[in-house]
Amino acid sequence: MLKVNVKNADETKNIGFKLSKSLQPGDVLLLDGDLGAGKTTFTKGLAEGLGITRNIKSPTFTIIKEYSDGKIPLYHMDIYRLEDGGSDELGLDEYFNSDGITVVEWSKFVESNLPTEYLKIQFIRNDDNNFDSREIIFDAKGSHFNQILKSGEL
Ligand SMILES: Nc1ncnc2c1ncn2[C@@H]1O[C@H](COP(=O)(O)OP(=O)(O)OP(=O)(O)O)[C@@H](O)[C@H]1O
Ligand SMILES: [Mg+2]
Repeated sequence: MLKVNVKNADETKNIGFKLSKSLQPGDVLLLDGDLGAGKTTFTKGLAEGLGITRNIKSPTFTIIKEYSDGKIPLYHMDIYRLEDGGSDELGLDEYFNSDGITVVEWSKFVESNLPTEYLKIQFIRNDDNNFDSREIIFDAKGSHFNQILKSGEL
């Protein structure tokens, strides 16, 4: 587990940017945290780090957005609207087993099996006077992600 404190949205983006440099095809990132906690902001930094130039928009209404103009394809999904079920029909397995990087916002609503290796990232508002500060908590499953957390790159 790794905890990182950030002071503002740019710092959150920067963590995503830095993480992108250690990612490889097939990686799965599971993002959780309240509405507006910073999941999409983080994904924007990550996409920038992958060399994606298209603007990353929250896929809340489209559920899945694919970006293939970077060095590795990015599959960005937001399954918040599926809180009452239905995520099974998205065929998440196919994304998890793909050669792209899969980022799932609101992963707590995933109903299908999670992959054997993933990085869980939680965004938590700090209970302090700075409205823009967040704690980002990383939990790694699998050696690749454990190595990233140990490397000190984040
Ligand atoms: N430290 C921070 N990290 C990320 N975003 C921040 C931070 N401080 C302020 N913000 C602002 O909070 C908002 C975060 O919105 P964002 O869309 O990233 O959240 P989200 O977790 O994806 O929400 P949703 O669940 O609705 O998809 C943005 O307007 C951003 O500018
Ligand atoms: Mg979002």
